[in-house]
Amino acid sequence: MSKATVPELLIEDEALKDFLALGIKRTEEFLEIESESNYNPLTEITQHLLLAGGKRIRPVLVFLASQFGKPDIDRLAKVSAAIEFIHVATLYHDDVMDEASLRRGVTSANAKFGNTNAILAGDFLFSRASAIAAELGPHVVTVLADTLSTLCEGQIREAIGAKDTDPIVHYLEVLRQKTGSLIESAAALGAYLAGVDDLVSAALANYARNIGLAFQISDDILDMKGESVNSGKIIGKDLLAGVHTLPVLSALAADKANELAPMLQKVISDEKLIQPIIEKITQLGGFDVAELHLESLIDQAMVSLDSVPKGSARDALIQFAEWLTKRNS
Ligand code: IPE
Ligand code: IPE
Ligand code: MG
Ligand code: MG
Repeated sequence: MSKATVPELLIEDEALKDFLALGIKRTEEFLEIESESNYNPLTEITQHLLLAGGKRIRPVLVFLASQFGKPDIDRLAKVSAAIEFIHVATLYHDDVMDEASLRRGVTSANAKFGNTNAILAGDFLFSRASAIAAELGPHVVTVLADTLSTLCEGQIREAIGAKDTDPIVHYLEVLRQKTGSLIESAAALGAYLAGVDDLVSAALANYARNIGLAFQISDDILDMKGESVNSGKIIGKDLLAGVHTLPVLSALAADKANELAPMLQKVISDEKLIQPIIEKITQLGGFDVAELHLESLIDQAMVSLDSVPKGSARDALIQFAEWLTKRNS
């Protein structure tokens, strides 16, 4: 997977573009230095995914949110690195849970080094994130700790399933917890470290929460409609894992003839059913419903930006939200 450079996709203002490029460069330096262990094999496993690319959208949000206050690039790069460490640690653990074999266009850590090593590398990244957060003070530590708790709650709720509750409500709550929470915290902490005023900070956090939900819905659509070469992941892996995302749940709700449910049961042990299932979901309008939902979240994010001062940073946030709806990786 080629390394996507989000700032280049989004920013027209040269000064902002330079600030972001420098911020991301600093973040990358922290990521590399702070992920080194005295024990080389642990460094190798930890850096396997960390340095394999990734869109770095959470750091980009940190730097953009900081533009509404007084940004200190060094502290922002530190918090960006802590957030990216947490993100990548959850990817290591998520790939163990999901038995994924491909991540960021490379063999997943669990497939390459085994589950035990992938779990430990994830733990190591959490510890590195904590060390950086401690340098930034108790507020950052608390926000990141609470965010990680929320994220874990989302992951376990997804694994347990909706049970007797409404599956679409359950799905949306899981998304807010497992993905929206860290994306929201990226914007909130970028604003906090730059001393952005409360009203604007709340608007930025609200924007990011909606973007985060939209982002995960687009990820779920890409899981079935994307191409492996772009996403760096296997197509249909949610179906194989028995995880039913919004396109599936919406199609099931419209499936009067009850044809989809038995196919979803069978695909877990027969991956040849992935394509027929995707066609069935398309016929039942499942992707259309998911895309409508995604667009409505983007609209809500845009409304939040009404409370944010006009200028190139706000323009970039608008571009970012639009890019999310069109992304293919
Ligand atoms: C992947 O996140 C996991 C989700 C929460 C959807 P990203 O799509 O941000 O992954 P990278 O960092 O670019 O690999
Ligand atoms: C996202 O969940 C992972 C986390 C939020 C920790 P998924 O399992 O849906 O994401 P991908 O598709 O593997 O990236
Ligand atoms: Mg996964
Ligand atoms: Mg998962």
